[in-house]
Amino acid sequence: MESDAQIGDWLAEIDEMTLLRFITCGSVDDGKSTLIGRLLYESKRIFDDQLANLERDSKTHGTQGDNIDFALLVDGLAAEREQGITIDVAYRYFATERRKFIVADAPGHAQYTRNMATAASTAELAILLVDARHGLLTQTHRHAYIAALLGIRQIVLAVNKMDLVDYDRDVFDRISAEFATFAESLPIDTLTPIPISARDGDNVVKASKPMGWYDGVPLLAHLETAPIGAGASDAPMRLPVQWINRPDADFRGASGQLASGTLEVGARVAVRPGDTQSVVARIVTADGDLAAAQEGRSITITLADDVDISRGSILCSADDPADVADQFEAVILWMDEDPMLPGRPYRFKLATQTAIAGVHAPKYRIDTDTLEEMAARTLELNEIGVCTLALDRPVAFDPYDENRATGGFILIDRITHRTVGAGFLKFALHRATNLHRQTLAIDAAAHAEQKGQKPAILWFTGLSGSGKSTIANALQKELFALGRHSMVLDGDNVRHGLNRDLGFKDADRVENIRRVAEVAKLMLEAGLFPLVSFISPFRAERRLARELVAEGEFIEIHIDTPLDVAEARDPKGLYKKARAGDIANFTGLDSPYEPPENPEIVIDTTTAAPEEAVAQIMAHLRAHGHIE
Ligand code: ADX
Repeated sequence: MESDAQIGDWLAEIDEMTLLRFITCGSVDDGKSTLIGRLLYESKRIFDDQLANLERDSKTHGTQGDNIDFALLVDGLAAEREQGITIDVAYRYFATERRKFIVADAPGHAQYTRNMATAASTAELAILLVDARHGLLTQTHRHAYIAALLGIRQIVLAVNKMDLVDYDRDVFDRISAEFATFAESLPIDTLTPIPISARDGDNVVKASKPMGWYDGVPLLAHLETAPIGAGASDAPMRLPVQWINRPDADFRGASGQLASGTLEVGARVAVRPGDTQSVVARIVTADGDLAAAQEGRSITITLADDVDISRGSILCSADDPADVADQFEAVILWMDEDPMLPGRPYRFKLATQTAIAGVHAPKYRIDTDTLEEMAARTLELNEIGVCTLALDRPVAFDPYDENRATGGFILIDRITHRTVGAGFLKFALHRATNLHRQTLAIDAAAHAEQKGQKPAILWFTGLSGSGKSTIANALQKELFALGRHSMVLDGDNVRHGLNRDLGFKDADRVENIRRVAEVAKLMLEAGLFPLVSFISPFRAERRLARELVAEGEFIEIHIDTPLDVAEARDPKGLYKKARAGDIANFTGLDSPYEPPENPEIVIDTTTAAPEEAVAQIMAHLRAHGHIE
């Protein structure tokens, strides 16, 4: 056991050393954990008690007989160990006499590309592990592509388990050559193939005896000498503002972590998005004021002028500020089980800025095995594609190639709150600037006044056969009799005309609702009550429709009929056909229906007759002043 003093000395000593951040990627059983365990062990940074545990655990859980199973050092938690998989990204720290290291270990399961992307976003080098017996796999290609996409410029191809192929040089040469061909079109600077046996330690730390034919250096020596510091550190200054620090009336500071560059007191800064500039007055930290701060430092700054900054603003060096745009071409890595749905709004986060993003159908997707551009209508789990993105507000950004911190973003599902995609901005697209909105002499308010009504969209949602159209029609009759103006938009009818190009896959339904929501909005502007009768199965698109208009102008009416009741009614015989397998993606059967969570009105058609439903809706309209 090392004493505290020794550890203190060690920490002081390593403080002076350079740091390499790297990731390891590979498939299950490629030997990643064993390799990392071996590096940690050989760097002598495992403490004795940890070693005792390891020896004991190796006997219980290990796969190496009485020898130490290095994978156990890394696989850590007992629960994971018993399942035999590593989950989430694990960061490990170790140091040699020459350098310190942070290694992010991203598990190999295909569905965990997400972890790999997380780990890669801060790394400078990637070790791709392949099993010498199996050679390159689809995942090896995908991981290499993602690593390069995320800005990693150095790749080590560690061909592991060489002991299991008799240290055969031909096997190594063949795998390295095949990978070199693949990697030619990746934007990387160095590719270093190394034949290793992580289990025995060959070419990990010490040169391998049986692989005397290998004339390169062992892996650790390579890691100790790999160039570092290329990248963000020479990028211009960017400080994304995390929050405005206002402890009392006299102090107003902007806090955040310096994403790139250096910031000095007296420096002129531009506040983006927006168009103001000022000069840095103070740089405040928990340890007192600084004259200058470097990338990675968390600081609070005050400015000489009282300019408008808020959470999400990015302070930039005034000489070289970030661009501002609301439409982009981006590469998107899709990370969710549910495919990307073009047209659906997702939450967009870039540094500390947030916006709502509509993602258009991909221009193409990239086949990571061949690097070919393939046609695609959507992106599925782990797929990578190039898409256009339209935001609801402008954001400050840099192309990802120039700055990882201000060029990378994530997409979050607004309903499940899951991170569904990671993206990399390529460049801004300019919205057609010769498109202007015409000011209309007769506006929505004038129309409404003429008709003596306060219009709203009445949005009927429910299963097929739930009674939406019946109730919408009955309501229209009642409104008509009272001299009120409405217009029924019915799914079946609109799908014969405007939306006749759309089917019933999720992506089509999203577009179906997007269009009818826009039409309903136009009708609202004409002073009408649009009665929208569409299944509209997804919460996200109903929310989109709601957000198109002002508060109070959208009335969601859930026609709440249980599936068995709707199916028993089966007015168009469609459930029967769907059950027989003649119709695919039928709502409620093999396509989901997401009931509203907070509808303005719920109608239970098992107890209420259509006239009662109409009365219920009319009461709501009167109570909210839509009609007298
Ligand atoms: S939505 O899901 O995109 O909102 P919409 O309301 O336009 O659906 O259309 C639903 C109508 O199309 C149903 O009332 C039914 O008559 C018909 N239909 C045909 N195939 C399907 C299907 N697979 N799922 C649901 N409805 C279908």
